[in-house]
Amino acid sequence: MTHNLQSRNKQSRKRFALLGASVAIGALALSGCGSQKGQGNEEADSGSSSGDGDVTIALLLPESKTTRYESLDKPNFEKYVKEANPDAKVEYRNANQDATQQQQQFEAAVTEGVDAIVLDPVDASAVASSLSKAEAKKIPVIAYDRFFDGADYYTSFDNKKIGNLQGQAVLDGLKAKKVDPKSGPVWMVNGDPKDPNAADFKAGAEETLKKAGVDIAASHDTLDWNPDDARQWVEGQLQSSDKKPIAIYSANDGTAGGVIAATKKAKDEPVVTGQDAEVDGLQNILKGDQYATIYKSIPPQAEFAAKAAVALAGGEDPKGSTTYKDTPTDFVEAKVVTKDTIKDIVGDQIKASDICTGDVKKLCDDAGVK
Ligand code: GAL
Repeated sequence: MTHNLQSRNKQSRKRFALLGASVAIGALALSGCGSQKGQGNEEADSGSSSGDGDVTIALLLPESKTTRYESLDKPNFEKYVKEANPDAKVEYRNANQDATQQQQQFEAAVTEGVDAIVLDPVDASAVASSLSKAEAKKIPVIAYDRFFDGADYYTSFDNKKIGNLQGQAVLDGLKAKKVDPKSGPVWMVNGDPKDPNAADFKAGAEETLKKAGVDIAASHDTLDWNPDDARQWVEGQLQSSDKKPIAIYSANDGTAGGVIAATKKAKDEPVVTGQDAEVDGLQNILKGDQYATIYKSIPPQAEFAAKAAVALAGGEDPKGSTTYKDTPTDFVEAKVVTKDTIKDIVGDQIKASDICTGDVKKLCDDAGVK
């Protein structure tokens, strides 16, 4: 098939994807038109400054306060792109939680004529106009971690399931303290309302907590995932509520840090949970300030995205092992980590030497983290 005939047609991509979903299980599978990887998107290349047929992939990540993006997602994505096509280039941009900046980064990549765009959106509802610009230049777009309509491929964790795991971690934390989950209010500190994952985490956690008969007495959507916003909300709540919470669900380790700062100040010790297995979160768990976090292995997610981006850039259709909202998708498994299981996750992604510093060294020894 010639490149002209490879012009992107989302509907046919999606039909291919649906057909393929049943046969491709567990690994990214590809179907193509017999084109060679690395040829690049000619239509896009024609407007490109390079225009040399080399593959260029734009990676657009949302923020840099949560450590995963700069320290795991970016380097792993680059590594797996190189593995899939040694001549491919990655152009990386971080939006620092600014949706307007991300739109500019996206549109600059379109103008430059990159061969594929991998986007983890700051605001998933604000990407439509950028997407139509990419579509006009036949540039395929991948939804990375956060879903948006119109993507050619999506890779993430099952975020509703992560919410279920988080809700269960709250219940387990109460059980460990011998506190009846129906004995007092539970508060929820959710993620940013512009992030569709935050809604999924919240829905999953609510589902699990409500099934256990928990009274969710107050709930807050944390603007921009900002730990300070989480802290301020909890401080205000603690001042104005007569009943102290038995647990505070927190959507990630960053916001959990804000929650812990507020409860410590008030000398309260509710069960607190998080997500991302960040160094701070794991240290808070070892110190007993946080009960659990969610460990997400980033390399497989970056690998799915890198392979799909290189494939799409070469005119092939990644099928994914499943579909999400009609989009070919691959999910990665996540798991709960508590003080007892931190030792099982240290290794490539998280180093004991990063966690076990200062006062935490002794706590690591006690928990068998080395
Ligand atoms: C979510 C992501 C989490 C966390 C959060 C804050 O979309 O899945 O891992 O990092 O954003 O950036």
